[in-house]
Amino acid sequence: MEKKLGRNDACWCGSGKKYKQCHEEFDHRIEMFRKQGHLVPDHKLIKTPDQIEKIRESAKVNIEALDVVADKICIGMSTEDIDRIVYEVTTKRGAIPAPLNYEGFPKSVCTSINDAVCHGIPSPDEILQDGDIINVDCSTILNGYFSDSSRMFLMGNVAPENQKLVEVVRESVYRGLEQVKPWGFLGDMGQAVNDYIKENGYSVVREIGGHGVGLAFHEDPWVGYTTKRGTDMLMVPGMMFTIEPMVNMGKPEIFVDEENDWTVYTEDGSLSAQWEIQVLVTEDGHEIISY
Ligand code: MF3
Ligand code: CO
Repeated sequence: MEKKLGRNDACWCGSGKKYKQCHEEFDHRIEMFRKQGHLVPDHKLIKTPDQIEKIRESAKVNIEALDVVADKICIGMSTEDIDRIVYEVTTKRGAIPAPLNYEGFPKSVCTSINDAVCHGIPSPDEILQDGDIINVDCSTILNGYFSDSSRMFLMGNVAPENQKLVEVVRESVYRGLEQVKPWGFLGDMGQAVNDYIKENGYSVVREIGGHGVGLAFHEDPWVGYTTKRGTDMLMVPGMMFTIEPMVNMGKPEIFVDEENDWTVYTEDGSLSAQWEIQVLVTEDGHEIISY
C-alpha cells in the first residue's frame, strides 16, 4: 500500500505540483475501479513525462536496429550475422542490447525461425533458407530505459499459407492496439487479438505473453491474450506494455529446448509467428513507442 498523501502535499508523480492539482482525481477514479473488484495498476506502473521521453529515446535505437536488420536480412545469412548487426547498431548509439546476459541469455537478440516460437539463440550454424519465416526480437537499454519490439521477415518464396499466418498475426496486434485506451481493460485488447486469431483458424500461445516495460525489461502487468473483454488490469494514462502474441498455425502447445533451456518450439511442429509492439496508454488513446 502506498502511504496516503495530503491534498497539499507534492504529487507522487514528481511533477512538483500539489496532489490536489495533479493526480488526486486520477487516483479517485482508479480507486472506484478497485472497489468494483477490478485489478488496477500501481503508481510505479505509471510513467512520468520525463521517463516517457527517455524510453522514447531508447526505442529510437531499438527501431533503428530492426530497420537495419530489415534492410540487410537475406537468404544465406546466419542468425549470428543478425546478432552482429543488432549488437553493432545498438552499441554505436551508446546503448546495450537488453537480451545480452539477461538471465544467462548469450546473445544480443532473439531469432526464431519457422516452428521456433520465441527465444531462439543466434548461431553461426543456422543459415536462413528460402521459404523460412523468422522473428527478430530486439530489446534495448539506453541510459537505463528499456524498449522492446519484434518483427517477422519472409525469406524468398514463402508459401502463401505461411505468408497468411504472418499477415494475420500482424493484423491481430493492430486489432488489439485499437482497444488500448485509458479506462478500458487489458482484456479488451486480449480478446480482440484472440478473436481475430481464432477467426483465422490459428491458436495463441497461452503460457508466454507481453509485459510492462520501460523502467525494467519485464514489469507488471503480464499481458496475455486469453482474457475476456472487461476483465484483467485497468489501463490508465502513463502505463506502458508490449503487445506480442505468439501464434501457432496448429495447436497452441509448446516446449522448451532441453539443450539450451531457452528456445521455445511448437509441440506439433507447426509454424509459429509473432509481432511485438511497445505501447503507451495516453490521455486519449495510445502511442506506439517501439515497433
Ligand atoms: N524480447 C523478449 C520479450 O519480448 C524477451 C527475451 S528475453 C531473452 O519479452 F533473454 F531471451 F532475450
Ligand atoms: Co517483450
